[in-house]
Amino acid sequence: MPASLAWTLSIVTLNAHLNRIHLLSPQPEAMAAFYARAYGMAVQEGLGVQAQALACVGPGRRVDISPGPANRLGHALFVFQDAADHERFARHAQALAPWERLEGPGWPQGCVQVLDPDGHRMVFGLASAGQADQALASAGVPAAMSQHFALRTQRIVEMLAFYEGVLGFTVSDRVLDNQQQVRAVFLRCNELHHCLALFAAPVTCFDHQSFETPSWNDLKHWADHMSAQRIPIDWGVGRHGPGNDVFFMVRDPDGNLAEISSEIEVCQPGRPVGLWKNEERTLNLWGRAIMRS
Ligand SMILES: [Fe+2]
Repeated sequence: MPASLAWTLSIVTLNAHLNRIHLLSPQPEAMAAFYARAYGMAVQEGLGVQAQALACVGPGRRVDISPGPANRLGHALFVFQDAADHERFARHAQALAPWERLEGPGWPQGCVQVLDPDGHRMVFGLASAGQADQALASAGVPAAMSQHFALRTQRIVEMLAFYEGVLGFTVSDRVLDNQQQVRAVFLRCNELHHCLALFAAPVTCFDHQSFETPSWNDLKHWADHMSAQRIPIDWGVGRHGPGNDVFFMVRDPDGNLAEISSEIEVCQPGRPVGLWKNEERTLNLWGRAIMRS
């Protein structure tokens, strides 16, 4: 049996959570100022693992930004709370190619990095108590946790095979066109509906990141906060079909979407994969949607 198939069959979910994402930008200072203002985060220099990185940090949420092309993910960091889950994944990762062990300031214990078919760096480590990015408080806005992100890709079949078949993410929902080709897929790495979404698109780029807030009422307060900051809502308020979460999205200075979401579906083990039509209603049950292809 191939190692990847054995891995897929050996577990139900990875049991990892998104800790932070790292974005590249031609205007990192403007981007950091935006995330600090929009999402109630503090800008920290010298915290990120990349040269010249600015770390935007709030309780349970973090975005690192460093110089580079717009609309490009640098890395995503997932952490395991449970040492046994982490050890099992780290053992598995050593069978992957290419992979690299990451050590040093800014990385949690036991980090391994793998590259997806589009060249994105996916990093997996063990959560440690008292991390600096968990300690900073933000005043005046409700709770919101780094929860998921999405990528646009020109090779969704290969990307899906990598995340599901190699890394062991679990498919929650697929979006199919009239020819039954996959146009989008939502994958989870814990009980929440998705920690990663992939959209088939004419270009390969970062799509959005999402911060999950505890309730619909909190989402309303986040919308009022955006209004007070004169940051217009670009899409929403709506409810996604896959995930059933209520949401709105704004755009950062590079044009990346950034989301506040709530009520995302909690999946039970063995939940059947959902199938959706590739139409606006799928991406927003309440109205218009941003179609990626
Ligand atoms: Fe999202």
